[in-house]
Amino acid sequence: MKKISIAIDGPAGAGKSTIAKALAKKLGCIYIDTGAMYRAVGLYCIQNGINYHNENDVSQIMQTLQVDIYSEDNQQFIYLNGKDVSLEIRTDEVAAAASKVATYKEVRAALVRQQRQMQSAKSVVMDGRDIGTVVMPDATLKIFLTASVSERAKRRFAEYQHKGIAVTLEKLTQEIIDRDNQDSSREISPLKKAEDAVEVDTSLLTIDEIVDKIMSFIIK
Ligand code: DC
Repeated sequence: MKKISIAIDGPAGAGKSTIAKALAKKLGCIYIDTGAMYRAVGLYCIQNGINYHNENDVSQIMQTLQVDIYSEDNQQFIYLNGKDVSLEIRTDEVAAAASKVATYKEVRAALVRQQRQMQSAKSVVMDGRDIGTVVMPDATLKIFLTASVSERAKRRFAEYQHKGIAVTLEKLTQEIIDRDNQDSSREISPLKKAEDAVEVDTSLLTIDEIVDKIMSFIIK
C-alpha cells in the first residue's frame, strides 16, 4: 500500500488526539502525538530542577535527552531516557512547561528531526501545532481542527470531572486562553493553519461525524 501521512493541527482541546487516534485505527497507520514529546521535555525539567524558563539550560539538556514514542495496538507510549512516562506527562503543570520549552529553537529542531524520521519510515497520522506547516509540509492530507474556547473548556471540565479532579470552569478557560496565546504568538513555528489545510470546526460535531468527514477527504 502507498505510504500516506496525515497532519492534524489545532489548539489545545480541539479534539486532535481523539480524532487522530480514530483515523490511525481506520487507516492502519501509526498515531504520533507530538505534544507528548514536548511534554516529556517539560517533565524532565520539572523532575530535575531545571528552570524551564531558561532557554540555555533547556537547550543544553537536549544534547543528551532521549525521548521515544512507541505505538502498540493503537495505544501510544512515551519514554524519557528509557522510562515510561506516558501517564506522568498528563498534568497541567507539565502542559505549561511543554508550552514554554516548545518556544525554544533547539528543542523544536531535535523533536522535529525525530518526527520526520518517523514519517519517512511509516504511514502516520501525526498531531501537533506545526505538523502541516513545518514537520510534514508534503503531507497527503492536512487538517486544522478548531473549536470555540468555551467548548474546549467544557470538554476539559467534563474530562476532569470524570477523573474526579476538582477544578473550576473559569480556571480551565483561562488556562486554554493562556496556552493558545503562547502557542500562537511564539516566534518559531507558531500554531497556524497551513495554506493547504482543510479547517474543521469540531464544536458542534460528534467524534464519528468528524472522523467520517475527514475520511471523505481521504477517499476523494
Ligand atoms: O498537544 P499538547 O497539548 O499535548 O501539547 C503540549 C504543548 O506542546 C503545547 O502547548 C504546544 C506544544 N507543541 C508544539 O509546540 N508543537 C507540537 N507539534 C506539539 C505540541
